[in-house]
Amino acid sequence: MSTIMTQIPDEKLFTMADTYHTPLYVFEEAMIRSRCREIKTSITYPHTVIRYACKALTLQAILKIIREEGYWIDASSLNEVLRALRAGFRPEEIYYTGEGATFAVYEELVQRGVLINCTSLDQIRLLGKVPGRTVCSIRTNPGEGSGETNKTNTGGPSSKHGIYFDQVEDAKSIAKAAGLRIIGVHAHIGSGGHSIEPWLRIKDLTLAIASTFPDLQFVNFGGGLPVVYNETKQKPMPIRDWGKALSESMEAFSQKMGREITLQIEPGRYIVAHSGTLLAEVQAVKSTPDYRFVIVNTGLNHNIRPSMYGSFHPIRFARRNPGAGSDKHAYVVAGYLCESGDVFTVKDDGSGILEPREFEELSVGDLMVMGCVGAYSHTMKNEYNSMNLPASVLVCEDGSVNVIERRGTLKDIMQREVEAYSEGR
Ligand code: LLP
Repeated sequence: MSTIMTQIPDEKLFTMADTYHTPLYVFEEAMIRSRCREIKTSITYPHTVIRYACKALTLQAILKIIREEGYWIDASSLNEVLRALRAGFRPEEIYYTGEGATFAVYEELVQRGVLINCTSLDQIRLLGKVPGRTVCSIRTNPGEGSGETNKTNTGGPSSKHGIYFDQVEDAKSIAKAAGLRIIGVHAHIGSGGHSIEPWLRIKDLTLAIASTFPDLQFVNFGGGLPVVYNETKQKPMPIRDWGKALSESMEAFSQKMGREITLQIEPGRYIVAHSGTLLAEVQAVKSTPDYRFVIVNTGLNHNIRPSMYGSFHPIRFARRNPGAGSDKHAYVVAGYLCESGDVFTVKDDGSGILEPREFEELSVGDLMVMGCVGAYSHTMKNEYNSMNLPASVLVCEDGSVNVIERRGTLKDIMQREVEAYSEGR
């Protein structure tokens, strides 16, 4: 039995699809809470703040669940900050890490009491000009990174992120001249990697950098915890061993510093990836001399990860007529967009080469159940081909199902155009 795909029975999935229409995002509360607790209990170091990197999935209902679990927030834009505030997080629980920011954004964040993590020397200079600022943290690039692909690797010389480790002395002097105390040192080396080893190694590089900051109150090692998407190829990360290694490092670090330094981490994917499922309906089955295609009524507009990174997402089909043929065939699962690259089953090397998977005979009306879409699928969705965005439902711990975001409409798509939308033509 899969441990990474939903356990909701097919009958209930069909009811949800029929009630709320496909395509449909389904999120499960129990999975989110259990992941939050798993991380929390694996870290024994007492001075720990765990933030949720809300760029992974930013819906209000999800943020509220994660807040109840005692998590704080890592935000990457002013709007993410405002969404977190709306979900009930207090300003002092929110941390802002953005690669570019204007004076107006920084001013608002300072006025609201949100801590800013500067990711370049220019950002420190900019923050220095904002009235009322006294402290900040800095995002460093420790010189090494790790991620699923180059596109999600955020450390090392080819990454735009953070202040390269050989420039931290400049960061200190710029901050000092601006009257800013650097109270935190941050590093996030990438996302979607399949092993925790690089993360643990780079933790030590980051601690070495952080130890040279006289006003240091916390270190933040970012997110990037590995998540299993393909059960035949990947193993779950050893979360207990990771928590132990992290806790021991922090105990030793605080001892070396002669005071308690707070540990911060900010996972996104680990908390929500497995909680999300995308339901879509089979709309056509067709063949070319080389491939058998199954077309579903969703596409890269609702999960861009396979076409953007070559990411693997587990897929199964619930069949409307379970008595249909049980012969297996190799199918390419493709979306409904006018875009050749709108295909979900591709090689995981990012080449876009088709990689069919075996399913029992499929027909129009069957339901595609795509797993592991909780992180970065909903937040990276788009309205390409003017397709309406899907609704999202939350399956609560008691089994009840609530719509947490309604389905999109043409009005939603057109509402910012100058030629105003009007009903009819
Ligand atoms: N902290 C910072 C500063 C980040 O930039 C990120 C992710 C995280 C934390 C959370 O990383 P996580 O724990 O989720 O791996 N769109 C890509 C992922 C991009 C991640 C961006 N930053 C994907 O679909 O795989």
